[in-house]
Amino acid sequence: MKVLVIGGGAREHALCRSLSLDPDVTALYCAPGNAGIGEVAELYPVDALDGEAVARLATELGAGLVVVGPEAPLVAGVADAVRAVGIPCFGPSREAAELEGSKAFAKDVMAAAGVPTGRSYVCTTPEEIDEALDAFGAPYVVKDDGLAAGKGVVVTSDLDKAREHALACGGRVVIEEFLDGPEVSLFAITDGETVVPLTPAQDFKRALDGDEGPNTGGMGAYSPLPWADPKLVDDVMATVLQPTVDELHRRGTPFAGLLYAGLAITSRGVRVIEFNARFGDPETQVVLARLKTPLAGLLLHAAQGTLDLEPPLRWRDDAAVTVVVASHNYPDTPRTGDPIEGLDEVAAQDAPHAYVLHAGTKRDGDAVVSAGGRVLSVTATGQDLAQARERAYRAVARIRLDGSRHRTDIAREAAGE
Ligand code: AMP
Ligand code: GLY
Repeated sequence: MKVLVIGGGAREHALCRSLSLDPDVTALYCAPGNAGIGEVAELYPVDALDGEAVARLATELGAGLVVVGPEAPLVAGVADAVRAVGIPCFGPSREAAELEGSKAFAKDVMAAAGVPTGRSYVCTTPEEIDEALDAFGAPYVVKDDGLAAGKGVVVTSDLDKAREHALACGGRVVIEEFLDGPEVSLFAITDGETVVPLTPAQDFKRALDGDEGPNTGGMGAYSPLPWADPKLVDDVMATVLQPTVDELHRRGTPFAGLLYAGLAITSRGVRVIEFNARFGDPETQVVLARLKTPLAGLLLHAAQGTLDLEPPLRWRDDAAVTVVVASHNYPDTPRTGDPIEGLDEVAAQDAPHAYVLHAGTKRDGDAVVSAGGRVLSVTATGQDLAQARERAYRAVARIRLDGSRHRTDIAREAAGE
């Protein structure tokens, strides 16, 4: 099978890495990709948001499967454009991707499906905003209704900051009850009817150690979660994943692709914080590091509506940890164009247990330079989280990128340190 992956971050590098290890994959392409993906896939400089261009490329390449990584192409209807030319595509339709594209839509689906989530108001005027902030009290949770790459959410106890963010959103804003408790990301593969959950992971959203600093796209992740209730996946399947997929099917807009449930484990039970319509980044890096089942067949079954034929997923006993190396000034105004050194040393000394997945990188002659806010996702496996963590940080220490930053506490608590 020839596979074309759309996107160019560390999530897509993780997808490409797994696909390149799948014996059923005879050729692997990626658009636009990055410097690291270029080592396992052939790159094409096509605009990921241009559905017709992606469909044309897939046709020219003779792709038997297209996998769309990021949310923006999904919300722009790229998966629909690929399916329209008769090529199976892993990723939901434009309409179903609204589950991520609009927080108000997601709340509506959850209400209809009886899915537990935080109480919320959708506001459009300053008066409504003030009333909602007043109704919930501190800490305030204010979310831009539309896509904001994980940065449209402000959680603060400062009423002025909450109000300022709400007004700055400039359109519809969702104001929500504060959900206390650890967060879990649980992904499920679905063909619109059958739902297959993956293994839970935890992401670190704040920029700095100790969960300080601004929200980011995610600074690291680990899996499995030794502290989680063993019944968690079954519970979330029954109360969140299957009812949501069923509700979208009932509405005539089936969701086929990756359903990402961002959950808070509160004292009153599990609550959905958000849905995403694609693999999470950086959680995918650790989830796929543990998945033994070949990836291409699984994604193809989901794309073709035959997921019921997929045998039960197989997982490695290993634990996995990924640490994001971000550029100077991420997430505010990340600096790009800095050379990255030490990649060869990781490959020579830390493989196969630790490896570097590229996010915002590109080739500049013989050098690899930073090209985005999150630059690398340094991933490692081990017999437990402590060993995976040690290996990941040993590899991080070999990387030289001027002004870069990373969190030092990824999976520390979960590893019992
Ligand atoms: P989201 O983009 O909705 O995932 O929000 C980003 C982050 O903001 C989440 O991962 C949480 O850490 C935090 N957050 C979002 N909603 C809430 C909430 N209702 N209560 C507490 N924290 C939240
Ligand atoms: N890791 C958070 C996300 O992918 O949205």
